[in-house]
Amino acid sequence: MGMLLSRKMETCLLVGCGVYFCFYLYFKLRKGKCKSKKTLEGKTVIITGANTGIGFEIALHLARRNGRIILACRNSEKGEAARSRIVQLSGNSNVVFRLVDVSMMSSVRAFVDVIKREEKKVDILINNAGVVTLEKILTEEGLELTFATNHFGPFLLTTLLMDLLKKSKGRVVNVGSAASVIGTVDCDNLRAEKNFSSLQYHNSKTANLLFTKELARRETDVLISCVHPGTVRTDVFRHMPLPVRIIISTVFRVLTKSPTEGAQPVLFCALDDSVQTGGYYMDCRLYDHTMWVPKSAYDEGLAKKLWETTEKIVAECGSKIQ
Ligand SMILES: NC(=O)c1ccc[n+]([C@@H]2O[C@H](COP(=O)([O-])OP(=O)(O)OC[C@H]3O[C@@H](n4cnc5c(N)ncnc54)[C@H](OP(=O)(O)O)[C@@H]3O)[C@@H](O)[C@H]2O)c1
Repeated sequence: MGMLLSRKMETCLLVGCGVYFCFYLYFKLRKGKCKSKKTLEGKTVIITGANTGIGFEIALHLARRNGRIILACRNSEKGEAARSRIVQLSGNSNVVFRLVDVSMMSSVRAFVDVIKREEKKVDILINNAGVVTLEKILTEEGLELTFATNHFGPFLLTTLLMDLLKKSKGRVVNVGSAASVIGTVDCDNLRAEKNFSSLQYHNSKTANLLFTKELARRETDVLISCVHPGTVRTDVFRHMPLPVRIIISTVFRVLTKSPTEGAQPVLFCALDDSVQTGGYYMDCRLYDHTMWVPKSAYDEGLAKKLWETTEKIVAECGSKIQ
């Protein structure tokens, strides 16, 4: 009897190890790597939320390609610290920090004023900054924080920088999320005026997809894409309950990516020649029309309505799209 039990345990252990190994291999092979050899000599890149996580890795990698790198961060101390570290690690001294809180439309406008004074063109804009919140928090401008950071800010920043991006036939990369697959966008509830959904983050990432596709229809001189970086071990889950964070960072370690790996799909969208405008990418591959994309992403009527409603809301925050 004892022998039979230990045989069973052995089999279970072997099967368990086999399953773990298959998962490990599957996720390792699927990670995708940006293989572009482009250098960024003479090119200007703006990355929001570049002081930590995926944004820091993107900035470091692009600095190594010798571009002028603008770290667009909301905290001066963290922004300056990231700048020093990137200069030290990359050997590129053409890395600057500029202050912006993307959840505040007034801050986005002030940032764009600085950029327009200092830069002749922008080659790549990476809308990376993002938050996950579990409760309704309003900004001083009356916007719900998740949508303000993940949708309204990137929308305003991109549209205000469009003339500088057009000058270089540049690129915009919106860092979305596979969470968008269960997101919905209600244009009458963008400020969470009717209700705050527990899927607010998912909804904001669906808005990223709709914005990407609508912008691609409107602007043919700029290449725009949306990208899911993967499930990455960063601080993005800092507002989640501790057990969830522990599960993500330890138990699912094999299934999650390091920030360096998470930066790869974003770098691919910023650099690779095969990238299609309006496309949605994961693992350095086009993922449009797969099960990972919500049907609503292709609803042109909804995308247009989202654009127009967003335009009105950011205008109410004291800004005008030029
Ligand atoms: N990690 C994942 O598994 C995952 C999966 C799918 C998509 N994403 C997306 O990837 C992007 C980067 O996330 P991450 O994982 O690297 O997260 P992270 O480590 O939390 O970094 C987020 C960055 O955004 C900045 N940020 C937040 N609110 C901001 C604001 N109002 N103004 C300016 N900067 C702001 C943060 O600045 P502070 O340091 O000052 O807070 C930080 O630099 C996000 O858009 C996220 O939605 C992440």
